[in-house]
Amino acid sequence: MKSNQVSTEQIHLFLTGHGFPEKVDSAVILGSGLGDFTENLDEPESIPYSEIPGFPETSVQGHTGELFRGRLHGKEVIAFSGRFHHYEGHPFSRTVLPVHLAHVFEAEKLIISNAAGAINTRFSVGDLMVIDDIIRLFHGIAASPSEPFRYNLYPVADRVRALAAEIGLEVQRGTYIYLKGPNYESKAEIRAFRTLGADVVGMSTAPELSEASRLGIRTTAISLVTNMAAGVSAKKLDHSEVKEAAEARKEDFARLVSVLIEKL
Ligand code: 6GU
Repeated sequence: MKSNQVSTEQIHLFLTGHGFPEKVDSAVILGSGLGDFTENLDEPESIPYSEIPGFPETSVQGHTGELFRGRLHGKEVIAFSGRFHHYEGHPFSRTVLPVHLAHVFEAEKLIISNAAGAINTRFSVGDLMVIDDIIRLFHGIAASPSEPFRYNLYPVADRVRALAAEIGLEVQRGTYIYLKGPNYESKAEIRAFRTLGADVVGMSTAPELSEASRLGIRTTAISLVTNMAAGVSAKKLDHSEVKEAAEARKEDFARLVSVLIEKL
């Protein structure tokens, strides 16, 4: 079924007909390799994207393409394991489908996560970083035209760090620069982005944050540093590195998301 022929309201109707609640407290978008978070859900149920009308297929490694529901701290949660990247050929209007679903489920908060490359030389592989601002270079990525970026992510970022500290986790904070990919950047590009004030680089999250800003959903976004960006370390970039870093930090990531669902 073509995704643009099915409205988010129709998808909501389909999902509530398959055991999903009408409303949820939190929606979570899980980045590459971070899908294990769903193992922490109480009474989990899931539906493969391929069985949901209007859902496109995902193809990136580490993304299973499944929508979960469950409870955490007694709160209703939906979690998107697998997202729709622009670099896979999805239009921006489709990259934000999870945000639109968070909206129809009336989610009070949205927690976005991603795997990112570190530009900031003080960061290390395995660091968690809460995004306090974004840079969207070159690309008009809004799913709707002429939208200002209304968000001030700073106060939420402060709260995320405080909650992380409560559970003994250190979380970096910084600016995420969005590149549409699919290629990784050159060393000169990374140097340039550093002078622009970027701390990490990635190929997701900014479209979702932009749309969440437009819809007024309380949102935070967490990056897991899975690798150092080009020129920051001598190591060559590859996708297996992303998986290793995610593997090493997935429990801390899940603890962080869990406390955010409980208290953010
Ligand atoms: Cl180094 N660049 C981009 N664009 N996305 C990434 C990345 C780097 N590392 C993880 N995701």
